[in-house]
Amino acid sequence: MNETAYTYGILGFFSLCIAAWFWLERDRARRGERLIAATRRMAAGDLEARAGVRGHDDLGVVADAVAQMAARLKTLGATYQERQDWFGLLLEHSSDLILTLDTDWQIGFASPSLYRFLGWPMDQMVRRPLAEFVHPDDAEAVLAACRATPVGPAPGEPIAFRLLHVDGSWRSVEAILSPPRNWSGPERIVMTARDIGARERLERELAQAQQMAVLGRFAGGVAHDFDNLLTAIQGYTSLLLRDLRPGDSQREGLEEIRQSSERAAGLTRQILAFGRRHAAESGPVDLNRLVGNLVRLLPPLIGDDLALVTVLAPSIGLVRADPGHLEQVIMNLVVNARDAMPDGGRLTIGTVNEQVTDFDPRASPELPPGYYVMLTVRDTGTGIDPDTLPSIFEPFFTTKERGLGRGQGLGLATVYGIVKQCEGHIDVESAPGRGTTVRVYLPMARAESGAGGPGAPSATRSSRIILLVEDEEPLRLFAKAALEEQGYRVLEAGHGWEALMRLSEFDSAVNLVIADVMMPEMGGTELARRLAVERPGLPILFLSGYTDDEMTLRGLGPPSAFVQKPFTPDVLARRVRELLG
Ligand SMILES: Nc1ncnc2c1ncn2[C@@H]1O[C@H](COP(=O)(O)OP(=O)(O)OP(=O)(O)O)[C@@H](O)[C@H]1O
Ligand SMILES: [Mg+2]
Repeated sequence: MNETAYTYGILGFFSLCIAAWFWLERDRARRGERLIAATRRMAAGDLEARAGVRGHDDLGVVADAVAQMAARLKTLGATYQERQDWFGLLLEHSSDLILTLDTDWQIGFASPSLYRFLGWPMDQMVRRPLAEFVHPDDAEAVLAACRATPVGPAPGEPIAFRLLHVDGSWRSVEAILSPPRNWSGPERIVMTARDIGARERLERELAQAQQMAVLGRFAGGVAHDFDNLLTAIQGYTSLLLRDLRPGDSQREGLEEIRQSSERAAGLTRQILAFGRRHAAESGPVDLNRLVGNLVRLLPPLIGDDLALVTVLAPSIGLVRADPGHLEQVIMNLVVNARDAMPDGGRLTIGTVNEQVTDFDPRASPELPPGYYVMLTVRDTGTGIDPDTLPSIFEPFFTTKERGLGRGQGLGLATVYGIVKQCEGHIDVESAPGRGTTVRVYLPMARAESGAGGPGAPSATRSSRIILLVEDEEPLRLFAKAALEEQGYRVLEAGHGWEALMRLSEFDSAVNLVIADVMMPEMGGTELARRLAVERPGLPILFLSGYTDDEMTLRGLGPPSAFVQKPFTPDVLARRVRELLG
């Protein structure tokens, strides 16, 4: 009995042991499964997943280590994301254009700035050959630069080329190509490029301005000499004509000479205007009123086939300019627009106030920031092809049939000179078949009280003494004759020094000085400066048609005026009368 109980006891004990063992094994298997499931979730990215396996056995230790690893990975991931965001931010705000090229010169990566710059959506740039976006004329050079990109750490020489914008236009960039260092990916080149459109525009404008300045000096110099000769020709012709009887047979020939020299004077005036050596009467001008008056005269000029539209902004600012010159600007632009629309079209003349700010893409040394009044002349005509565009302001450049009165190539040269004299800027936007828009920016001026009208003619001229200072002898003799005919007494001098000497001889008897601006020894400007000190109040009349800066003459002090060369005896007499009042 005891033995049996003993045996059952043993069996019971073993059964218990086996049951406990089974239970422990199942528990271990469950914990193992939980651990495996948790690590799988972690592998799938859920770093918050925990197995919930505790204990001091090996599973507990492993579970603990895995949990620690997940926590560490999470911290690293957060740091990584932060840095990723930071580089993304840098890239997003970078104005430099960054792209990578694979071995087959396909675009691997393109920075957001590049998408913004060219307007292409990302999927239309990535995995496409760079050549598809490079101007055909530049493609070979770009490919050569890619091939030549050094393997070493130093980047290659910068290369300039044009990239295709989504709108079909080309954008100029300058790029540096370098190989990515310590990189085993497919990227072979990192290209960092920069928009150089504005720089190119400035360089173009500067080169054009320099070229125009040289041409202007040259043309102005020639025209100045011609002016002196023409003044003498016109003057003597007028004097001869005055002395002839009405029916004299010589009259016809002399009239012919006079008319021809007048036409020639018209030409030199245009050239002088281009060279900015055209003496100008500059007053505050209301461009709207000027355009309004001029537009009434235009219909016969432009014909019936053209629709004329004026868009004048209300309360336009005043500009400081010679109204006659501004009319000439508008007329020249209108005639060009008319010629560009032989089959009809629309001609729009507009005015508007414009502010150019420091950050304005239009701002340049030629168009400094400030307030302007902008005159626009737009046509729907033939347009100008890009090869011709850089030349249109050159004097004597024309695509029209050459001839007097038509196609002399002086229209835009004159406009350019006048606009520059007003310290303004001119910009032409044109494309073949798409018409032309000319924009003239004129600096805005403050209004001033108007100048007084001409003085009343003097009664006793014979008592008046005029000192005539002119180096060109024929011109001096002609002017002297013209003045003496009016009854004035005339003293002569060949330059400024001589004039000062003559003045000291005659002391206060001299009532007026007439002086050429450009003379050897001492020119009219310097003479005027000295007179302002030695003889303040003595009026000076400049014989001019040739002044680089008439404002300096204006600011000299004594009441001064201009007679533009070439002049007739009547014009000279009228100016003298005005000054001697
Ligand atoms: N609105 C325009 N549309 C098309 N082409 C133009 C326009 N304005 C100027 N051009 C081009 O520029 C050239 C130069 O113009 P510019 O006014 O200086 O001389 P022109 O008109 O040929 O001769 P001119 O004005 O002396 O009679 C023209 O011959 C023409 O080719
Ligand atoms: Mg013209």
